[in-house]
Amino acid sequence: MYYPDEVIESVRQGSDIVDVVSQYVKLQRRGANYFGLCPFHNEKSPSFSVTPSKQMYYCFGCGAGGNAITFLMEYENYSFQEAVQTLAERAGIPLPQVEQTEEERRKSNRKQILLEIQKEAARYFYFQLRSEQGKIGYDYLKGRGLQEETIRSFGLGYSLAYSNDLYQYLKKKGYTDDILRDSGLITYEERGIHDKFWNRVMFPIMDINSKVIGFGGRVMGDGKPKYLNSPETMIFDKSRNLYGMHVARRTKKPYFLICEGYMDVISLHQAGFTNAVAALGTAFTIQHGILMKRYTKEVILTFDSDEAGQKAALRALPILKSAGLAVKVLDMKPYKDPDEFLGHLGAEAYQERIDHAMNGFLFEISVLRNEYDFSDPQQKTDFVNACARKLTGFTDEVERTNYIEAVARTYLLDFESLRRKVNAYGAAGYGEQEEREHRYDMAVSVQEEEEKRNKRQQVRQKEKDDANGQAQRLMLTWLSEEPGLFIKIKEFLTPDDFTEPLYHQIAVLLYGQLEAGNLQPGEILNHFINDENEYREAARVFHTKLAETMTEEERTRAFQETIRRMKKNSLDVASRNAQSVEELQKIMQAQSSLKNLHISLN
Ligand code: UTP
Ligand code: MN
Repeated sequence: MYYPDEVIESVRQGSDIVDVVSQYVKLQRRGANYFGLCPFHNEKSPSFSVTPSKQMYYCFGCGAGGNAITFLMEYENYSFQEAVQTLAERAGIPLPQVEQTEEERRKSNRKQILLEIQKEAARYFYFQLRSEQGKIGYDYLKGRGLQEETIRSFGLGYSLAYSNDLYQYLKKKGYTDDILRDSGLITYEERGIHDKFWNRVMFPIMDINSKVIGFGGRVMGDGKPKYLNSPETMIFDKSRNLYGMHVARRTKKPYFLICEGYMDVISLHQAGFTNAVAALGTAFTIQHGILMKRYTKEVILTFDSDEAGQKAALRALPILKSAGLAVKVLDMKPYKDPDEFLGHLGAEAYQERIDHAMNGFLFEISVLRNEYDFSDPQQKTDFVNACARKLTGFTDEVERTNYIEAVARTYLLDFESLRRKVNAYGAAGYGEQEEREHRYDMAVSVQEEEEKRNKRQQVRQKEKDDANGQAQRLMLTWLSEEPGLFIKIKEFLTPDDFTEPLYHQIAVLLYGQLEAGNLQPGEILNHFINDENEYREAARVFHTKLAETMTEEERTRAFQETIRRMKKNSLDVASRNAQSVEELQKIMQAQSSLKNLHISLN
């Protein structure tokens, strides 16, 4: 990790968990804690808690939990460093500077200025849209069914019908020609300097962190080209950015919608489909796929219904698949694109189309189908052979069978003979090449995914754990909530009585804090921050609940029972590991004296 621990800790301490979470979640106070609707899963009644004394959040519904840093990592999908940087900025805590070479510093300054320029330009366009001269643009957008709120949230604007007003504006702001030349907003030609965009409604393109990096501009009416886009610049890489992504990445839906145009994205968002994105007037790249894969496992292509759209879908499919995404294709006929579909049939009908989206492979087969005339037996045979060759691409036997079945069912082919054909082609080595191509790109992302899933399963397993784990968690929760108990407990329990490896680590840290009279459960999570499963589990440990309401007597009994159980368990473990007879005798003695253990809470 790049920042020193003390720095990370001071950032965490300077960032009150309630403040941080409140920026995103509406919280309500309940006793010493706060509750709200969990931002990490869909729910109707609040089970998401924020505890100021622990400086932690925890969802009793889905198990998401952590401290201020992990909250930003999960909510904003920030890396650890980005989360620390964001919190440090908020809290006004200076971070140590990265060692940069002169060249690097110059470059990063330049990037910073280019970002400023884009922001200035976006402001300027936004302002013009609301000016007298920009009314034509505003009316155009309204005429296309956009609500004021939508226009505002996408920061739409208008470039005036003059040739260099933006240039003048930016010059007045003090930007030099040297840097403006690289902004992509100004054209420098022999016959003069002028704005790249004029008389267009402007769509600012934002990166994942909502920073403006470029623009798309649509002509008013039918001029050519219909859309003009910023060229690639130091800060605008079209193969790594998607329109709408800064919003879509927050979706709770398990898939993204991918469409072709800016207007489609905006209409979809306005209709409630805030998980829609589009490429920036270029083809889909593996980087686009990998970017989306960070947030979702599945994408649904909702490309234009015409032949061009179909071709674009066929091109995008293998690329997105190779990033490890499951791909489906949505049919919008008889309408051309999402914008038109929504205008005519509305959101509910669109949702139905989503629910019936076609599996990507079957989509490819359905396109293939159209190349053959089934009334000719030869052509039908050719089609079946082509299908069989494609089907060899599935190396997993069950998956392959399922697809053979689906194809056979759809095209009224005999399952058995199709299966035999696929196997014959498979034996002849067909499909291997296709497979290899995919495997290369998939290897990385799929492996990561697998590892995560395995770990999650391990955590699940642990969740089912026995009463011993439960007792240890309960004790850690109690200690974190009532540090006064520590004096009593430490006579009976040491960190070694916490036998679950993770709980043991946590106990060591917690005992250290309690011993020093400096209880900070939220700090403890910093030690597990590199592993989502570990910090979540650590957060869970501090939120173990018995019955909500207990009498004093019940509490005492539960408390004693917990200590006894923990002690018994750790002695059992110790006796299994005992190295000598003396050691074993000691353990047995301790075991028998357990019965007489009596601890009072007061
Ligand atoms: P479309 O022409 O399908 O866009 O181009 P659209 O969203 O339906 O346009 P409206 O509804 O008439 O406003 C889809 C995308 O292709 C790129 C743009 O990114 C556009 O959003 N494109 C299209 C260009 O870059 N240049 C063009 O001239 C046309
Ligand atoms: Mn359109």
